[in-house]
Amino acid sequence: MRTVRAAIAVVASTLLGVGLAQAPARAAVADDTTRANTLTAMHGEAFANASYLAYGAEAARNGHDDIADLFVATAATELGEHFTEEAALVDFVGTDVANLRTSIEGEWHEATVVYPGYAQQARRDGCPRAARLFQELAADEATHAAQFRLALYAITHPRSGVRVPIGTAVPPVPIVAGLPVCSGVTQDNLEATLRGEAFANASYTRYAQHARSGGRLRLARLWTNTAGQELGEHFSEAATLAGLVRSDAENLRKAIEGETYEAGTMYPSFARQAASVGEDEAADLFAEIAHDEAGHASAFLYALVDLELGGMRAAVRRS
Ligand SMILES: [Fe+2]
Ligand SMILES: [Fe+2]
Ligand SMILES: [Fe+2]
Ligand SMILES: [Fe+2]
Repeated sequence: MRTVRAAIAVVASTLLGVGLAQAPARAAVADDTTRANTLTAMHGEAFANASYLAYGAEAARNGHDDIADLFVATAATELGEHFTEEAALVDFVGTDVANLRTSIEGEWHEATVVYPGYAQQARRDGCPRAARLFQELAADEATHAAQFRLALYAITHPRSGVRVPIGTAVPPVPIVAGLPVCSGVTQDNLEATLRGEAFANASYTRYAQHARSGGRLRLARLWTNTAGQELGEHFSEAATLAGLVRSDAENLRKAIEGETYEAGTMYPSFARQAASVGEDEAADLFAEIAHDEAGHASAFLYALVDLELGGMRAAVRRS
């Protein structure tokens, strides 16, 4: 058993060192399908990052520090390597001005169309907790859009005296493990919310790094504070209602299922598609990431076996 723990510890410590590494320069993808696949993959990586942080926090609460470390380290790879390298492949991070324009559009759409619609649906589905959450999210996203608009004005009118706002550091809300609170379309909408919020967090984290490297420190703080609210509050509150976090064993099983799909199905098919249209850099990256995901699946499997054997030993001792 020590060997298994040691193997997990090695994987975890290696991955912990990854951080938010600078992605190597790659050529931008021209093929539309390869581009769309890359964006799909980026959504998956952002969601894996946010989910593993949530699973890691739950494992730490349950006193399973090895599992917590493994989830946190794997989360760092999903964002710091996979999402980042895929973002570089499609030139996802633009200038500060372009990043602000894209984000204003996204926030405004969430504030005026997506979340008000989800709130209405939640009322129809008889889930007032979700309706309240979606209303709160709509208001917060409107604030994000307004702050980004002000930042854009300050940057494009440097002599106006307007300063870039830095936003607010919102304290993270813990996710309560359990079953879904709502059902039907509202449950689907909560799951879509998790994906959207995870993607906003990952995107703004990258935009923050870009602003920081260009010396725009106030803008970097605005991106970081907004990313913190998307993950620590919006994702977390939706996760509690959606029943994202369960027992450590169930969370590991879900992670293994996701990693196995990415390693054996999704990334190999994306790599084949990219190779078939001559997008060799994309094909190589997808193949590399498929290999990493297989490593994640086996590290999670080791952790699950370790956890279940520990549970069986405790039951034998009690009998
Ligand atoms: Fe990944
Ligand atoms: Fe937002
Ligand atoms: Fe949000
Ligand atoms: Fe992974």
